[in-house]
Amino acid sequence: MNDLREGRCGGPASVTYGRDRASGRREKRAKACKLEFMSSANAEPPARIAMGEGIELRRLEPADADAIFAVVAANREHLDPWLPWVEGTREAADTRAFLEQVEENRARGRTAAYGIWQGGELAGLIGLHDIDASNASAQIGYWLAERWQGRGLMTRAVQALVELAFRELGLGRIEIRCAAGNLRSQAIPKRLGFTYEGTLRAAQRLHGKPVDLRIYGLLREEWERLRAASAEQVERRL
Ligand SMILES: CC(C)(COP(=O)(O)OP(=O)(O)OC[C@H]1O[C@@H](n2cnc3c(N)ncnc32)[C@H](O)[C@@H]1OP(=O)(O)O)[C@@H](O)C(=O)NCCC(=O)NCCS
Repeated sequence: MNDLREGRCGGPASVTYGRDRASGRREKRAKACKLEFMSSANAEPPARIAMGEGIELRRLEPADADAIFAVVAANREHLDPWLPWVEGTREAADTRAFLEQVEENRARGRTAAYGIWQGGELAGLIGLHDIDASNASAQIGYWLAERWQGRGLMTRAVQALVELAFRELGLGRIEIRCAAGNLRSQAIPKRLGFTYEGTLRAAQRLHGKPVDLRIYGLLREEWERLRAASAEQVERRL
């Protein structure tokens, strides 16, 4: 599946359509490639994704353990109300164990997890998890250090992972689950055009108490429509 990124098919964007027979064959081949591209559920996620303004998503590596633990430790009060694992993250070794789990899941094609970095500073984490190739679906989870909130950083990071999931991994559905009281988290899928699909009652335990989870979903065809509509809007403005 790496072939697709290395240019064997070139990807749909690089296809030239023409009128002659050779072009016709190219067109057919391009369509076949596009189909393969769209169903490339096993494509390898990239190690880095640039988001502009010096911010990038970098694949989580075991060497990130100390940096991640330091941010979690410094943001305990901010993260703990919403993330059940914070309480149990007491030392860097806990983060190392988490990263080992991430590596295992990555090797199995179940996870694509990234740190959000600006230069040497880690702002937060984001991941596609529970990647399910047979159902072409995955979930996105995220957190930001308190001081990085309010700049649209996570909204852009989620956008980047949605694009990765639909364009490169060939997935058809992305889900974001937010605790019912976590309005800041819910604002992200709402901002990006996800649909509220319903509530799983008492689906998570936070500090020993059952919490309802709101499900937001986005399908590939909806995302394609949203992209086309925003491109049209930009064109109209020019
Ligand atoms: C959930 C969480 C990541 C949301 O952070 P956030 O800063 O609100 O999200 P974003 O980075 O997308 O920023 C959006 C904010 O930046 C503003 N903003 C500025 N420029 C923006 C831009 N270009 N695009 C979008 N929003 C922008 C938005 O108006 C919004 O601010 P507002 O809430 O005052 O309206 C963060 O609160 C967090 O980590 N919480 C603790 C852990 C957690 O809850 N994780 C999720 C579990 S489901």
